Amino acid sequence: MDTKKIHIKSFGCQMNKLDSSLVTSALKGKGYLITDKAVEADIVLINTCSVRGHAEERVYSHLGHLKHLKKNKTGLIVGVIGCMAQRLGTELLEHEAVDIVAGPAQIAQIPELIRKTLLNKSKSISITEKIRTAKTKELNKELDNFEFTYDSDENHIHNQAFVRVMRGCNKFCSYCIVPLVRGPEVSRSPQAIMEQINKLSDSGVKQVTLLGQTINSYTYTESNKTYRLADLLEMASKIDGIKWIRFITSHPKNFDESILKAMAGLPKVCKYLHVPAQSGSDRILKAMNRGYTADEYLKLIEKAKQIVPNIAIASDFIVGFPDESDKDFQATVKLVKKAKYKNCFVFKYSPRPGTLTDKKLQDNIPEEIKKLRNMELLEVQNQISSEDNKKFLGRIVEVLVEGPSKKPHLNKAENKNNPQLIGRTATDHIVVFNGSESIAGEFAEVMITNTSALTLFGALNS
Ligand code: 5AD
Ligand code: SF4
Repeated sequence: MDTKKIHIKSFGCQMNKLDSSLVTSALKGKGYLITDKAVEADIVLINTCSVRGHAEERVYSHLGHLKHLKKNKTGLIVGVIGCMAQRLGTELLEHEAVDIVAGPAQIAQIPELIRKTLLNKSKSISITEKIRTAKTKELNKELDNFEFTYDSDENHIHNQAFVRVMRGCNKFCSYCIVPLVRGPEVSRSPQAIMEQINKLSDSGVKQVTLLGQTINSYTYTESNKTYRLADLLEMASKIDGIKWIRFITSHPKNFDESILKAMAGLPKVCKYLHVPAQSGSDRILKAMNRGYTADEYLKLIEKAKQIVPNIAIASDFIVGFPDESDKDFQATVKLVKKAKYKNCFVFKYSPRPGTLTDKKLQDNIPEEIKKLRNMELLEVQNQISSEDNKKFLGRIVEVLVEGPSKKPHLNKAENKNNPQLIGRTATDHIVVFNGSESIAGEFAEVMITNTSALTLFGALNS
């Protein structure tokens, strides 16, 4: 058999990127070649996201292109994997372009699904039936093995890697598809997590980001001891080669003080907290089933700032939730002003089939208003960030260098041997400076000479 080429395209969050990297290295292990050009590929896999309608539309538009490509390239196999595969199942399989459908819990089966499809020339599907009640123990064992075996080169770019500590979500925010496609919360054993971090550290990784949809809910009980996120942070801190430890994403409810204490007390734990508020209106928060009020949320932010000096906090917001009035929106603006975030991600509400909000409430805020609210909130945050970033002027910051900057026009002093690089501070501030590409993956000190809302600019401190 000649060597088949595979192209993998990934949409969505870090979880998906991690899944794609595991699948890539598993397929390489089976002898496939990886190509970054879909037109050269014998097999195209699309790892999909369902969190907003827009992400799904982009996948459909891709499938449209692939349908045409298939006409000129008989035998081309197209697989849709990830959240959209789990959500739509057989409906996706019926799409003219699609040969394979596999959910997020079936990533370990992808090499076998591809083998069968190549052999039998017929469509195949593997998703979890009744995902909220499925017996997940066996599946999780399979996923854990897959994760450990294939967590290789693909998952560490410039000495940074992602480590999943839990899967799924039990929060059931009324607008969110995640609990319906990623299933119930399951925490991985601390032993499996630490083995993986040790392995990554042995291969040169300096920064790990622990991943979980609601990572502060991490709980694992073994021999009468219950491990929480703070324990993981402490255990990971003991691994020599690891210098920085991050974790995303937190939910404001049941946010244990032990996590803040670990952040304050463990020097390797980055002082950055992503804890989405989603709205500043109590009425909307209730409709979203978030389980806290704006005041309770702000108290958590205050506590975080008190226990962890110089902490940087980031948030997500949804604007244009059903029935969101101007008054509700202004409550969100007020919360953003009070919280003084490092940065915010703002999303326009997108109805997701099967979620409680979609079943009960009409998507009744016009697109135009959603857009205006989105822009207004970002503008408020931009002003806060611009002002706050000025504190860095004249300071030397430590960054982990990520590599060449994708927007070199930001800084004019660019040349080939000394290109513009991008790095991140422990507080997740983006820093742009000139230097040799060879320092990607290393720590460096940068003197900050200029700042904007989103970026700090400076020069290597040599
Ligand atoms: N519409 C818009 N944004 C959403 N998010 C989750 N579900 C939706 C939805 N239906 C946002 C939330 C979450 C982020 C990952 O995506 O802000 O924190
Ligand atoms: Fe979705 Fe809420 Fe779970 Fe986050 S916490 S994944 S927004 S249901």
